[in-house]
Amino acid sequence: MAGIKSTAAVGGGVIGGAWAARFVFNGFDCKIFDPHPEAERIVGEVMANAERAYGMLTDAPFPKRGELTFVSSVEEAVEGADLIQESVPERLELKQKVHMQIDAAAPQNALIGSSTSGLLPSDIQAKMMAPERMFVAHPYNPVYLLPLVEIVGGRNTSEETIERAHSAYQQIGMKPVTIRKEIDAFVGDRLLEAVWREALWLIKDDVTTTEELDDIMRYSFGMRWAQMGLFETYRIAGGEAGMRHFIEQFGPTMSLPWTKLMDVPELDDALIDKIADQSDAQSGHLGIRELERIRDENLVGIMQVLAKGHGGKGWGAGKLLKDYEADLRARAANDA
Ligand SMILES: NC(=O)c1ccc[n+]([C@@H]2O[C@H](COP(=O)([O-])OP(=O)(O)OC[C@H]3O[C@@H](n4cnc5c(N)ncnc54)[C@H](O)[C@@H]3O)[C@@H](O)[C@H]2O)c1
Repeated sequence: MAGIKSTAAVGGGVIGGAWAARFVFNGFDCKIFDPHPEAERIVGEVMANAERAYGMLTDAPFPKRGELTFVSSVEEAVEGADLIQESVPERLELKQKVHMQIDAAAPQNALIGSSTSGLLPSDIQAKMMAPERMFVAHPYNPVYLLPLVEIVGGRNTSEETIERAHSAYQQIGMKPVTIRKEIDAFVGDRLLEAVWREALWLIKDDVTTTEELDDIMRYSFGMRWAQMGLFETYRIAGGEAGMRHFIEQFGPTMSLPWTKLMDVPELDDALIDKIADQSDAQSGHLGIRELERIRDENLVGIMQVLAKGHGGKGWGAGKLLKDYEADLRARAANDA
């Protein structure tokens, strides 16, 4: 993988554990550090989910599994690692401290990615001696299945680092997209936050329940988004006249306005109780592990269907899966 032989995961929660799974199942050794007393159990559960998901996803031959080693410090984890993925809690001071530790112990040429959901790489790398090798690599949960990783450089990140990162994540079946400007929350979380803010208003104002809102999404535009995103979908909505017509037709509604724009409802106890109670009524009969399994089965199904899309050429995340499978088969043939 772009000169990568070994990897490190600093932080082994929901995200760090799943990064470790991606690395290990793609054949790379991974040293992992997480001070949580139950880190091995938690990572073990994520690895088991990942193994199950990969078993369903493809019959292409994965390489010989890399070795996962738990270590007792950041320094031990990153020593000799070519690709380091930091996934510690989302607090700037903690990220800065951990990145200084990584900086002091990592090989000169290591790629150092942060999983941060929205902190600026320029801030995270501010106290590093060699910040040019640090960047944001923002994944989506579950990291072992969803292929997107947003790559964001900070003020001091080198172009070479961005290019090498791109190729490294591609090699583990991912779709890296480099974000052109460094902004808070990048692109995906900007969009998600806007939707989340509206959803909070709609629940607070008793327009809908959590279950009804999820139904409105998953029986309609959620399916459109999964295969064509926003702009390609709206191009079709414009009919033969295309995108220009769509904008002319629906542009004026933007000024009504339908949405609550930038206001955020106060997350007071009443709203939190309401959302938590409605969510319990909606999904409380299913445990989290069961929900994860259902989610993974559905995601696998969607990707497999998309792999047959566009007359068998593959479409979107399915085209990526098809290419990844071809790559796995070619590598297995080479190794034979
Ligand atoms: N959960 C998501 O959906 C999601 C998605 C994308 C990105 N992220 C980002 O990933 C990062 C991790 O989030 P998470 O959801 O996995 O959180 P988490 O709480 O599940 O895991 C964080 C882990 O970091 C460990 N940790 C704390 N201090 C540490 C240290 N000094 N060194 C090593 N490990 C340490 C904790 O013990 C914990 O296991 C955050 O930056 C978050 O914004 C989360």
